[in-house]
This record gives sequence, structure tokens and C-alpha cells, in this order.
Amino acid sequence: MEVIYSPGEHEDPRPGREGLPPRAWVDRTDAQQLSLNGDWRFRLSPTAAVPGGDEFAKVDFDDGAKQWSDLPVPSHWVLHGHGNPAYVNIPYPFPVDPPFVPTENPTGDYRYAFDLPKDWSLGDGKTVLRFDGVDSWCKVWVNGTLLGTSSGSRVPVEFDASAALLAGSNVLAVRVHQWSAGSYLEDQDQWWMPGIFRDVTLLHRPEGSVVDHFVHVEYDHKTGGATLKVDAKPSGRVVIPELGIDAPTGELLHLAHVEPWTAETPRLYTGHLVTAGERVPLHVGFRTVAVEDGVIKVNGKRILFRGVNRHEFHPDTGRAVTRETMLQDVLLMKRHNMNAVRTSHYPPHPHFLDLCDEYGLWVIDENDYETHGFEQLDWAGNPSSTPLWKDALLDRVGRMVERDKNHPSIIIWSLGNEAGPGENIGHMASWIRQRDSSRLIHYEGDKTCKYVDMYSRMYVTHAEVDALGRREEDPLDDPELDKKRRAMPFILCEYIHAMGNGPGGQAEYQRLFEKYPRCQGGFVWEWIDHCFIKPTTDGRKYWAYGGDFGEEIHDGNFIVDGLLFPDRTPSPGLIEYKKVIEPVAITRADSRRVSIHNNRDFASLDDLAFTYRLERDGRGVAGGPLAVPSVAAGHTVTVPLPDVALSHSGERIWTITAVLAADTKWAKAGHEIAWGQFPAAETSPPVVATSSSAPVFDSATGVVTLGPAQFSTTTGQLTRLGRLPVTSLQLDIWRATTDNDRGQEYFEGICWADVWREANLDKVKHRVKRVGIQGNAFVVETRAAAGSWNRGLVTTYTWTAEGGGVRLTVKVVPDGDWGDMILPRLGVRVGLPASLSRASWYGYGPGEAYPDTRSGVKLGQYGLSIDDLQTPYVFPQENGSRIDVRWADFAGSEGGLRVEGVPHFAFTARRWTTEQLQAARHTTDLVPGDNVWLNIDHAVNGIGTASCGEGVLPEYKLRVSETEFSVLLRPT
Ligand code: GAL
Repeated sequence: MEVIYSPGEHEDPRPGREGLPPRAWVDRTDAQQLSLNGDWRFRLSPTAAVPGGDEFAKVDFDDGAKQWSDLPVPSHWVLHGHGNPAYVNIPYPFPVDPPFVPTENPTGDYRYAFDLPKDWSLGDGKTVLRFDGVDSWCKVWVNGTLLGTSSGSRVPVEFDASAALLAGSNVLAVRVHQWSAGSYLEDQDQWWMPGIFRDVTLLHRPEGSVVDHFVHVEYDHKTGGATLKVDAKPSGRVVIPELGIDAPTGELLHLAHVEPWTAETPRLYTGHLVTAGERVPLHVGFRTVAVEDGVIKVNGKRILFRGVNRHEFHPDTGRAVTRETMLQDVLLMKRHNMNAVRTSHYPPHPHFLDLCDEYGLWVIDENDYETHGFEQLDWAGNPSSTPLWKDALLDRVGRMVERDKNHPSIIIWSLGNEAGPGENIGHMASWIRQRDSSRLIHYEGDKTCKYVDMYSRMYVTHAEVDALGRREEDPLDDPELDKKRRAMPFILCEYIHAMGNGPGGQAEYQRLFEKYPRCQGGFVWEWIDHCFIKPTTDGRKYWAYGGDFGEEIHDGNFIVDGLLFPDRTPSPGLIEYKKVIEPVAITRADSRRVSIHNNRDFASLDDLAFTYRLERDGRGVAGGPLAVPSVAAGHTVTVPLPDVALSHSGERIWTITAVLAADTKWAKAGHEIAWGQFPAAETSPPVVATSSSAPVFDSATGVVTLGPAQFSTTTGQLTRLGRLPVTSLQLDIWRATTDNDRGQEYFEGICWADVWREANLDKVKHRVKRVGIQGNAFVVETRAAAGSWNRGLVTTYTWTAEGGGVRLTVKVVPDGDWGDMILPRLGVRVGLPASLSRASWYGYGPGEAYPDTRSGVKLGQYGLSIDDLQTPYVFPQENGSRIDVRWADFAGSEGGLRVEGVPHFAFTARRWTTEQLQAARHTTDLVPGDNVWLNIDHAVNGIGTASCGEGVLPEYKLRVSETEFSVLLRPT
């Protein structure tokens, strides 16, 4: 056959061609640079074989034709009207036929005309063209001259453009294929989004400029001294005035005393590397990373990761994130007590790492490598174990390490994520070890820990973490490897899956990390919900997820699993995490003293100011500063509580708060870091009012009146309370299932949402058995039972008049075989008029809380509109419960309702029913109806993190049992 077309270049599994050797990334030096970001010309073709071939790269090619349009660089073309993003978690969205990719291969041709600044000295040294990120494969020309190709979406490539550039105007042309051999190495759980999505820069490399440099540091915690060696090519001088250094490169410098770099104290010494042709800024942080005594130590101390997995994401621009967004992420992490970030699952934009150095975050820098889609093929043909891919893997890991090697914040290199086992993993690890032995190596997929420095797992249950903490995990078959692994530190590179409502069980993990030195914390999955805005047909906006862009293969809302909502507002999961990982534990020592424990790894608490507040029934009665002496890391002090005269009644609660004493780089003075709350005195039980009147039955209307309440005798239901018409007050055991309810518990292998559906718990019918008057009480006996099953809950509602309102006592007696069933909730629900618009309550708040997600809420008095009680989870589900509420007032223009607990209850109040919430797929599906639906819960089931991980812990499961609870309802 005479071959006229054969694709191939982009299907070559080897690294790209003609890229310059990778080197340390520096934001700016004194050498000239020119950003080529801007509006480029762009044309999209459906296949890699574009008619006209490479013609478009020629200088005089006409890019004004109608197939061409403007496209910003950096960006993803799918977010600019050229095709769509597509979300798949594990499987490849194309046939697994490595290294080949489909003929249908969206291909973007880019052209950019630019002028070289007049003072650009082309004759001196070289000019280099740098791409910080191109997804997934590119071929680059300048003025029609081919410079080279590159594979590896999230690692940079530089080409020598010197010979091709002209003084004055130039044309840069780039061809980008969405699919390439490299796509097999980039099967991360995220949106597939092609394009030149990071900066493009032209860099002048004058004669004698720095080809590469490597800053080597060591800190000796015993002496407080350090060493510094800056290797550079060509050689030059290292100048750090603050340290009195002006020394040749390549020389080992001994420093008698430095302040070390830690995530808590990110001390950077700034200076310059000066060579004949360039002055390169240096930001040196001194620290030593090691595994000693089976734990990871920095500067001689065990550290505890309070981490998060960060994908790069912005709802407008995808992975093309601005520096402002990167800073926003770092500030949000610091403000929420985090100290570590895993750059899942690729090296981030390099500026993000500069911010981690500057603001203080431990970093696990991860290689751009995942082949998870091979798992369903039993890893057959997996690149990790196939020699064909060795060079490509060494190329990309090398480009990460070379680019990022000078960041003090990076203490661990990660070889990739979910790429199975194989010798190429070993090759990458060995290459790193010979190049940079100063950091540790991580790869969760190395189950036997043959190649890595720490045992890392994801989504392990609490019970297993406990065993791991004791180094009593199940043994490996190979005794040598087992011994090695058992001696290693343990981290959870992913845990507590922040999908939808939750994650629950956070505090219990933290207690294990505090208990066992080996368990050095974890990284929440994940930072932010990855969603894009889409309009409904009537123009309302919603957050779109997998499947909303017509994808053939997709994983729905599994991409909506962040601590931040897509617009970066914190979710309740983040509020909870901030509290769970707080660096100061403030607890009651005894009735007169508070204990303050410093949970930091290095720093004292001298940067914090403490305050106290005494409240009675949620109202402040005293407050002010609390003097706390200096507390070193890991130490505890006990401080007397202020001598405030306590009143004799009401609920009296101390709240002790630690805030920043002065402004920092990342938050203002007064920013809350930690708090503790505990009773100041025993609360005496409330005085129970006695029944004041008896029910009156009007046989003409069939209505029973009891105090301010009216009931129907046919349904037994409350129909009116004072001025308020009321509907459908009855037992409720259902909640709109959460993502975690729908998940598969790792431990028991149960999906509770499936169990509940099978049990028809969402289809409960209420049979009225008897309605009557018994003394002063109006009594309704019913049997609530789910369709198709013979088990039920015999429910008796007893109403008595009390203090201007009515007391409802609900007795629930299980009937029939409920087995080990757990219930979503147990309480009553009632339809109230839509005119109710506000809730105020005394209980926990201000945000939602469930039995296993309640660390972040405080006892106090709060008020919110009914609308603001909702947590707007992208995928609608149960939300907004306020827990351990003593009383709540629901107010509106046409009368209100007060609910008082005997002693406590939880509530949700919404403008739609649970059924509507359950049926909704996007927030715009939720439309206010004619009622406010109030659920008054005696108990609710926990949340857990089974969307990926462990289910609800036994102590938070709501089991079916005989129960009685009461509330007082009063019209207002
Ligand atoms: C992990 C994976 C992450 C993400 C998570 C579930 O297995 O490493 O990328 O897919 O599960 O959201």
C-alpha cells in the first residue's frame, strides 16, 4: 500500500522531541522575558490529520479564514465554545489500545503573532520558548521552523527558539491534540480538558545565564546550625546578605545559626545566585526531612499532616488558574488550619509552590501520572510495568523534580497516583534518589512499599488505622518487605471524602493520629468541587457536573467532592475540618480551670490571644481576655477561669477562643484559630408546666380543640395552632439520601440507600388505629409502615395543653422484624405556611451538623432566614440540620411557631418536601412550594464517608428501637 497518511507522532509513547533539558523554574530573573499569554488565533479540527497538514505554521498562512477565531491562552478550548469538557473518574473515555488513540481526536491549531521588544538581544546567548502546561501533546513552530514536540500535560517544556526568531514580528504556531499516547498516563479523576492551559513565555538566556541550579540545605536541630550548597551551571556566586553569605556556588557553607523553615514558621532567606549573565533570586528555607524511629521527622521532630488534596480548578477557567486563585487557595487553607497539601495528581502551576514556601504548607508534589483505567483490565498492559513506557515516565518525573527541586515546602515526591504496580515505578524512584536524596518518596500504589519511604493508603477505616498505629496490620507474604513496611511511617494520602453532606467521622481519625506516632495524618479528598456554570432553559444558573455535557461515558457527580463549593465558599465539611485539626485543644480541666494544649509541631502559642466568654442560655453575661502563659509545642498549661459570679439558673457555658494576636500574611488579627466550649455549672432540669386544659370535642365539626391547637378526628392530625394552619404532622423516618448514604461502606459492604429503598422507607403509610381523649390528653394511635413489608412502627401521639401551647409526646414501638435496620431519621414532620420566613434558635450552629459532623458548631443563639438554613449542595440531598436545639422560633408575617425541646431536638426547615429534595438533580430543580416543611427530629443517623470510605461509625447509627420523645409547640 502506498501510505498517504499515517498518524503517529502523538501516538509515540516516547518523550517529546527537541525539548531542552529540564531545569529549576524561577518566576523572574533579571534576564528579559516576554509573556505570550493573550488572545491567539485558533482553529479546531475533528481529527489529528488536519487538511493542509502543517501549512498553518507558515508565517504567511491566512488565519483570518472563517474556521479561525480568537481563543485566550492560557485556557481550555472546550470552555470557549469548541466542544465540551468531559468527566470520567476511572475508565478511559476511549478504547484501551495503547499507545493508540481514536482517529476522532480534537486537534487545536494555534497561531500567535508577536513583536520581539526592540531591546531584545537575539545575538546574545539564547532565547527559549517555555510552555508551562499543554494538554495533552503539542508540536511547536516559530516562523515556520519546527522547534519540537512535547508530551506531559502538566510539566513544562522549553524549546530553543533562537535560530527561528526574528527581530521585529514573529509568528508562533502550535498544534495540540487532545488525545495522545500521553493520555494513557493522565487518567486522573477529573475533567478531560485539552489546550494550552498554562503560561507561554519567551525567555532570554544571555551568555553566562543560569542553565540550572540546585539549592541543597540541611538544618541541624541539635545545634541550630545549617549547611547550604548551591550548585549552578555555569558557576557563580551565592549572595544572601542576611546571612552574610557571598560565596562561590558549589561550596558547602556552614552556618552557625539559622531560623529553620517549617510550615508553621516559613522562614525564607532571600538572596541571589549571580552568574556572569544573570541574577537569579533565591528563597532559601532550611530544613531537614528524614524517617527516624519509624516516623517522618522534619528538623528532628515528628510532624502531623493536616492536609488536603488540591486539584487545580476554577469554575470559569478549569485548570487554567490565575495567581489570584492560587493565592486564594493558600489563604483559605491557612485560615482553615491546614498545614499540608498534596498536589493531586500532577505538579501544579509552579507559582503555587512559591506560595507554599512563602505562606508555609508542607507539600507532597505529585508526578503527572495515573493509569487507573487499566485496573478493570487487571492491569494488563499497564504502563507502570511495560518497558515501552519507561522513558516517558522517567521524562515526566524528571521534569517535575527538576522544575520544583528548590522549594523548601516540598518534602515528599510522589511518583503518581493509582497507576498500579510495576518496575517503572522502581525506575522513577531510583532516578529521584540519585538526583535528590534530601526528600522522601511516596506512591500509594506501591502496596508492598518496595520503592517508597512511607506506607501510604487511602480511605482506610478507623479500625484499620488503629491497627496500623500499633504496627499490627495484616502481614505481607514476603517477610522482608513486611518487616520494612511495618517499620515505616504511615500516612493517609486520601481520606474523608468530602462529597456532598459530610464527611463524617473526621474527629475520630484525628484522635488516632494524635494517639499513634506512626499515623502522621492525612489529606482530605479533596479541595474543591469541580463544576461549571450552566443555564436552565429559563435562564437560571446551576452547577454542572459529569453527564451535563452530553458525555457518552461519565461518572456523574463524583467530581463534586470538595471542601469548597465550586465558587470557593467553604462547605460545612471545611468548617468541621478546621475545628477537628485545630492546633490548640481547649478543654475543661475542672470546674475552675481550663486546659490549653499546644498541638503544633514546632511553634509556641505566643502568636495567639485567648478570650473567654460566659453565656447563659446563649446570651453573653461576661467576657474578656484570658491570660495564657507561653506554651511550647506539644505542651499543656492549665489556666484558672475568670472569677465571674455565676447566676443560679439557666444553661451556663464557657467559650474559650484562641485568635491571632496580630496580623499575619494570611489572616488578620482576631482570626479564630481554635475554641473550646464547656459547661460552667450543672444545668438544672427545666420546670415542667402541668397540663392546663382538657381537649374539647365538637361532634358537629369533628374537630377537637386543645388549648391553641385544633385536630381532625378523622386523621388525628393537628390542623391549626393559634393563627397557623398546619398540615400533615406525622412520624417521619426518611431523609433525601446523601452521597454518603448512597456509597458503599468499606467496612460492612452495605449501601444504606439501597437497603432503605428496598425496605421502602421512603414510602411509609400511616394507618390511624384509634383517636380519642384520655383525661387531659388527646391521643392518636397509628401504625406507620413501609409499603410491601409487614413490619411497622406503632406510633402514639399524645397531646396535652401546656403553658399557652401544646406538648406532643410521640411513642414509637417497633413491630415485626426490623433486623439490623438503621433509620435515616426519627421525628415528626409538619407542613407550615409559606409565610414563615425566619428561624431563630438556641442550640448548635450557625451551620448544619449531624451526630458525626458536629465538631465545628457551637452552642449559642442564632437566627437565619428559612432560605439560608439550606446548604446548597450541588447535588441536592439532605442538609441543613441544626442539632441539639433547646428551642426554635419560626416567625413570619402571619404568625409563628415556637418549638421547645424536652430537652433537645434537631430540625430542618425547607420550602420543599423531602421527596422533592430527593428527586432533584441540580439546585435549580428545587422550587419553593406552598409550605415550609419543618422536621423536628428526635434523632438522625450519622453521615459517615461511604461515598468513598467508611460508613457511619456504630455509635452514630440510628437503630430501630422503642423510643419516646416530646416537644412543646406554641403559637407566637
Ligand atoms: C481516589 C483517587 C482520587 C479520587 C478519589 C475519589 O481513589 O485517587 O483521584 O478519584 O478516589 O473521589
